[in-house]
Amino acid sequence: MTGTNKSADSGTEPIVVAVDGPAGSGKSSVSRKIAQQLGYGYLDTGAAYRALAWLVGERGINKDDSDAVCALVEDFHYASTLDPETPSVVVNGTDATMAIRRPEVSSDVSAVARIARVREHFNSMFRVIVADSGMPGVIVEGRDITTVVFPDASVRILLTADETVRALRRNAELAEQSPGSHSAKKTAEQLHARDRADSRVVDFMNAAEGVVLIDSTTLNFDETVDAVIAVIREQTVKEKA
Ligand code: DC
Repeated sequence: MTGTNKSADSGTEPIVVAVDGPAGSGKSSVSRKIAQQLGYGYLDTGAAYRALAWLVGERGINKDDSDAVCALVEDFHYASTLDPETPSVVVNGTDATMAIRRPEVSSDVSAVARIARVREHFNSMFRVIVADSGMPGVIVEGRDITTVVFPDASVRILLTADETVRALRRNAELAEQSPGSHSAKKTAEQLHARDRADSRVVDFMNAAEGVVLIDSTTLNFDETVDAVIAVIREQTVKEKA
């Protein structure tokens, strides 16, 4: 496994579109939509970190005990569909698709995601999932996909947006999921706290060399989708030329 999709005999390897960005940048919904439009698979790498944080909680393990978390990784069997219509997460045979979105998982996930051994294990797992996907292309979204997981991907995009706009979007998302169960102020505080914690591990606020920055602050959902698709078309044509 090389982690690239540019090897000389890569005829059957999927095109990788790597999309990074902070919480609330819209990268998940935009990536899903684009995968649907292009007939590609969709891999949400944050879901794997969430799934591990969820299992840590289920087993009563201290999330800050990195040895205990690493030991758990040995007994962590993760399966995720690449179907953008119905992404699902199964952990050790249990469907955790909904559970990994709970607020307590969102609060705990940064602690497990900062463990280097966990990241190495997950990065290899993501490369295998993509290589074995059997799809023409896969949109892989996360925080370090453009820089660490698939630094040689055909398309590398950093999707960002102004901090206030991201908090508003996340708030609207939560309001839709469970009306009246949260406060806008608390949502904004949690989002910024998670960004601060996560950005100590990987830099997803600044585009690395060769990564295309798309700022969606003033774009609506459809405009953001169009902007990302335009970059995908441009970069894949360039690669073929
Ligand atoms: O995208 P998300 O909010 O569902 O991600 C959950 C957490 O996982 C987030 O706090 C950061 C972490 N993460 C990461 O460290 N590296 C990735 N490639 C994806 C997510």
